[in-house]
Amino acid sequence: MAPSYRIVVLASGRGSNLRALIKARACGDLPIEIAAVLSDKPAARALRHAQAAGIPAIGLAASSYSERAAYDQALFDRIAVFAPDLIVLAGFMRVLDQNLVEDWRGKLVNIHPSLLPKYPGLHTHQRAIDAQDTTHGASVHFVTPVLDGGPVIAQTHIGVRTNETAQSLAKRLLPREHGLLTATLKLLAERRIRLSTQGIFLDGALLKAPLRLDQNNRFLLSN
Ligand code: GRF
Repeated sequence: MAPSYRIVVLASGRGSNLRALIKARACGDLPIEIAAVLSDKPAARALRHAQAAGIPAIGLAASSYSERAAYDQALFDRIAVFAPDLIVLAGFMRVLDQNLVEDWRGKLVNIHPSLLPKYPGLHTHQRAIDAQDTTHGASVHFVTPVLDGGPVIAQTHIGVRTNETAQSLAKRLLPREHGLLTATLKLLAERRIRLSTQGIFLDGALLKAPLRLDQNNRFLLSN
């Protein structure tokens, strides 16, 4: 049997991506152990989802720390106790200390609601509409010190409709995000993806472009 793959999830709010992971794991579709969920918002719904699933849930309020770096260090000290193979940022709304991000390079991923490198940062749906994009989507990427700028592992695409609003676009994209995060974590848990200085490798071959999820939440892979 493959060794278990432990993840720690960081989330600041609703936690629908976390729920998708919990569900996929429970269905036997995702060979991971969710070792803990941590949040900078002790009242976050994500923590309640974790508790309901019997996963250790830790709220660590940033307001108790006068300095950003001290908070981030305390957060990562708590994470390290769980010895994760991977940290997953799923709606974690803080920019992390650059030194810590460097320490975890290749073991820290984020889901972002745009087709990166388009629209790093906030208000991605409105920005796609304002730019009259016909296609929008979401990306899972390795985290580097550049905000939403790390190497992109995989993306999912949706068409932008006429009369689309940021709300309608976000609502239609969210289930696709869940599929994207789940499918990408599966590849990571199977240890098929690796980050090196040259880029992202899948099954030992350098990826020339991000993987693309199809309508059935599957990647088109050669094997
Ligand atoms: C998602 O849209 C994700 O892409 C972004 O934050 C949102 C989190 O949603 N980073 P949820 O908390 O997982 O429901």
